[in-house]
Amino acid sequence: MADPCTFVIFGATGNLARNKLLPALYHLDQAGRLPEGTHILGIGRRDWDDARWRDEVEQMLSPRARGGLDPEVWPRFRDRLYFFAGDLTDDAMYSGLRARLENGPEFSLNIAFYMSISPADFGVVSRSLAAVGLNVEDGGWRRVVIEKPFGYDLESAEILHQRLHRDWTEQQLYRIDHYLGKGTVQNILVFRFANLMLEPLWNRNYIDHVQISHAESRGIEGRAGYYDGAGALRDMVQSHLLQMLTLVAMEPPANLDAESLRDEKVKVLRSIRPIPQNAVHAHAFRAQYAAGVVDGEKVPGYLEEEGVPADSSTETYCALKLFIDNWRWRNVPFYLRTGKRMAQANSMVSIRFKHPPQQLFRETHIERLEPNWLLLNIQPNECVRIELQVKETGLEMRTQTQRLDAASCGIAAYGLDAYEALLLDVIDGDRSLFLRYDEVNWAWKVVDPILKVWSVERDYIHTYPAGSWGPPEANRLFIRDDQRWRNTLDDSPA
Ligand code: BG6
Repeated sequence: MADPCTFVIFGATGNLARNKLLPALYHLDQAGRLPEGTHILGIGRRDWDDARWRDEVEQMLSPRARGGLDPEVWPRFRDRLYFFAGDLTDDAMYSGLRARLENGPEFSLNIAFYMSISPADFGVVSRSLAAVGLNVEDGGWRRVVIEKPFGYDLESAEILHQRLHRDWTEQQLYRIDHYLGKGTVQNILVFRFANLMLEPLWNRNYIDHVQISHAESRGIEGRAGYYDGAGALRDMVQSHLLQMLTLVAMEPPANLDAESLRDEKVKVLRSIRPIPQNAVHAHAFRAQYAAGVVDGEKVPGYLEEEGVPADSSTETYCALKLFIDNWRWRNVPFYLRTGKRMAQANSMVSIRFKHPPQQLFRETHIERLEPNWLLLNIQPNECVRIELQVKETGLEMRTQTQRLDAASCGIAAYGLDAYEALLLDVIDGDRSLFLRYDEVNWAWKVVDPILKVWSVERDYIHTYPAGSWGPPEANRLFIRDDQRWRNTLDDSPA
């Protein structure tokens, strides 16, 4: 097991810490994966002491711990928790923090600083930590985990990058994209490179188009402060969806080490055809949810959510059409789509193959031959499905779609959450599932022209009722009439 360490969580009382980080650390403890002597120091503005913080964490974890809080684990985990009250903008806070870390015998000097805060504060906090010498690997390692979005656009990402590099080495920086910690996302790589069968087909000669869709039924969950300034394009597409695209489209890496993988991902991002500002409307579509019904419950529209300005034009839905100008993919559209308050929560990569070249069945009862599809469902269930055409039983020549599912479909995905896997990597010092800056930079280059156009066109945005599959107007992105979104494994392609 790795050496003990101290997790310092900035923004410890926020949404991410509550929903993801603290549950992940707790589950790692439950699985026996947190080294003994590992402690968690939460930082927040509230005037809490350790005892109060421990009570708060108990409340946070009770509904989130798998199978409920385990009476064997909770007391041990509780003892790992400490709180430090302070304001991020107050310089004196950082010298106090340093003293607390160095003088508290409970704290290991292997320290991971987790930036679970507004992206606008990443620079200030990392600078202030360095100003009191907390970046110096003195008596232990020092790592900074930076949440997405890394920057606000291409320019601010570059500024943040320069700023971080004044005080921290690249080895100390862990730019997290939690999608890379999902077993089902890693499975895209295994599926592609551990099976020879599909490789000859995995290109422009056989593939009509690719869809990468992430639909959520939940809304913004009280995160208006962050979300309204971000929107779906920054929140999901610039990071998670483009990362999935790189895994679907990349060439086989030289080996599985961090740099070889990242090199191939960057090659994909660099090959994405730039979208000129005057073509943004042809390539990108945005919309916002209006009131509607989700899972049988009435829910308010985005503009009625607490903290959202009444005239906000922030998108909660976004769809893009991208082309990758390389030998393998030229002219194959990649459609990316994400939305909040959609009919159902489902993430899926759908690959549609071309029609066979000869219309052999023209003179038969077959009115329309459906193409083959390969569906990789990412969540909530993992599934690999192939749709094939077979002859219907009977005397006439008709076809029907048959589905071949991997035997593992329907079996709940292995319970390890993405954050658990990634926090363990931070402890182990393994950066292969974290982003290198050039990946982030190229991903910003892809979306930057869209952000620019949308930021000045603020007077109108399409809407879709909460609980729907998004606005039909988004279909204008398709290059042909026979293309349409695949929403879930079970909807039909026709
Ligand atoms: C986060 C976004 O990065 O990813 C959220 O900020 C989004 O808005 C979430 O809901 C989706 O992640 P997951 O793991 O629930 O699919």
